[in-house]
Amino acid sequence: MANNQINHVALIMDGNGRWAKKRGLPRTAGHEEGCKRIIEIFDAVKANHIYCMTLYAFSTENWNRPKSEITLLFRYLDKFFKDNIADLMRDGVRVQVMGDITRLPKHSQKTVLEAIKKTKDNNNYVFNIALNYGSRQELVKATKEIATLVKENKLDINDINEQTISDHLYTSNLPPIDLMIRTSGEQRLSNYLLYQLAYSEFIFTPTYWPDFTKDKFEECLKEYQTRDRRYGKIVEE
Ligand code: IPE
Ligand code: IPE
Ligand code: MG
Repeated sequence: MANNQINHVALIMDGNGRWAKKRGLPRTAGHEEGCKRIIEIFDAVKANHIYCMTLYAFSTENWNRPKSEITLLFRYLDKFFKDNIADLMRDGVRVQVMGDITRLPKHSQKTVLEAIKKTKDNNNYVFNIALNYGSRQELVKATKEIATLVKENKLDINDINEQTISDHLYTSNLPPIDLMIRTSGEQRLSNYLLYQLAYSEFIFTPTYWPDFTKDKFEECLKEYQTRDRRYGKIVEE
C-alpha cells in the first residue's frame, strides 16, 4: 500500500440544505450545523499533520441564491472567525482567502481582512477559504495579470510556462492539492480549482457536510492511502 503524505486537502462542503430539509428545518439550520464541522475537520487536519486545508465556502454562482440565505451565510462566516480566531492564533494557523472579496458584505470583508492580517506571520498550518470564488474567474484574473506583464515588457511571451500560470493563482504560495473531497453525493467540481486539481485524488462521499465528522474525514484519509498516484508513469508491481 502506498504511503502518501498529504500536504494539502481541499474540500467542497456540500449538502447543508438537504441535511436540513431531511429534518424539516430551514436550509440555514444546515449551514449553522455545517459551520461546526469546519473546526472539527480542521482539528483532524492538524492532528494528521496536513499543512493546508482549502475550503469552498461561497462560489461566484452562489449569488444566485435568495438574498436572505446569502445574508445569513455571511453572518455565520463572521461568527466563525469571531469564535475561532484565538485558537487559530494559538495553533500558528495562517488564514488565506481565495476569491474577490470586494463583493462581500462590508462586515464580512472587515472580518476576513482582520483575520488575514492578524495571522499573516503564522506558518504551522494554512486555513484557506474560498469566498466568492470561481475557478474560471481566477483564470481570467491570472490571464489579465500575465498579459499586463507582457504588455509592460516585464515578461517575455516565450517565458510563459505552467509555473507562470500557477504563480498567478490564489494558491500560488501553497503546495499542490493531494486530495479533494466533496460531500453530499454530487460528482462535479462546480467551478472549483480546475487548474490546481489536475493531478489530485478525488473522493466523493454521499454524506452531507453537517454529518461529515472527524471519523468520516479520517476514513477518506485511509482511502487516499490506497490510491496509486502514477502521474502518467508505469509503476512496476
Ligand atoms: C453547501 O451546502 C453550502 C454552500 C454552497 C454555501 P448547500 O447549501 O449547497 O446544500 P445543498 O446542496 O442545497 O443540499
Ligand atoms: C459548491 O456547491 C459551492 C460550495 C460548496 C461553496 P453548490 O451547492 O453551490 O454547487 P452546485 O450548485 O450543486 O453545483
Ligand atoms: Mg449544494
